[in-house]
Amino acid sequence: MNNINFVRVDNIDDFAIVSADFFSDFLKKNDNPLVILPTGFTPLPFYKEIVKRYKSGEKYLNKFRYLALDEYVGLADDDYRSFSSWLGKEILNPLSIDSKDRIIFNSNADDIDKECKRIDDIVSENVIDLAIVGIGENGHIGFNEPKSSFSSRTRKVLLHEKTIKANAEYWGGIDEVPKEAVTLGLGNLKEAKNTLLLVSGKRKAEILRKSFCAPVSEDIPSSYLQNQPNLTVIGDEDALAEIIF
Ligand code: PGA
Repeated sequence: MNNINFVRVDNIDDFAIVSADFFSDFLKKNDNPLVILPTGFTPLPFYKEIVKRYKSGEKYLNKFRYLALDEYVGLADDDYRSFSSWLGKEILNPLSIDSKDRIIFNSNADDIDKECKRIDDIVSENVIDLAIVGIGENGHIGFNEPKSSFSSRTRKVLLHEKTIKANAEYWGGIDEVPKEAVTLGLGNLKEAKNTLLLVSGKRKAEILRKSFCAPVSEDIPSSYLQNQPNLTVIGDEDALAEIIF
């Protein structure tokens, strides 16, 4: 296993502050980096803190290019439920990130495989300076669900039944949830120069243990992180409870 920098925080306020400090230091040291940002509940306190600092004068906090991690398939550009709209609302718009600096999937592309190849080519031609990711309870990263290949590239995937159920409320009913999505592959994510995993809450404790204390296996996509260079994990006590330091 590579040397992993586990940072344990006491509460959600500290989670926001420590994550924002990490990001702020990163932007000070890297010129216009390419950064992946995650969706989900976990990063919300971090995004709030970054927006607060930006609005209070820390203008360098928008000096990065954004690369999408994943997206649902078949949504109109302006569908508020798309990940790109969600991230726009929570962080990219408040930071005034220019649309030319947002590398996002066209969810509604006629040929979705071609669209994945377009994004994959961009990822291959650029360096992912920092991949900030969250983790699902089954170890998914983006839409790389269990059994995804560690060398997988950007592609279309079918959503797991569990994921569809988990998202039903957000979509206003199970039948409303898109059945397909696109995601960067684990092979893309492995190429990131730096990775930051954000994790909080008791319900993530077991998968964190499996990710870092069990053998690396495609049954647990997040276990690729064990061999990831320059990995920082920021987690609260509940999430890190089963990690033996
Ligand atoms: P969460 O989602 O932050 O809402 O727990 C994380 C994920 O499923 O990747």
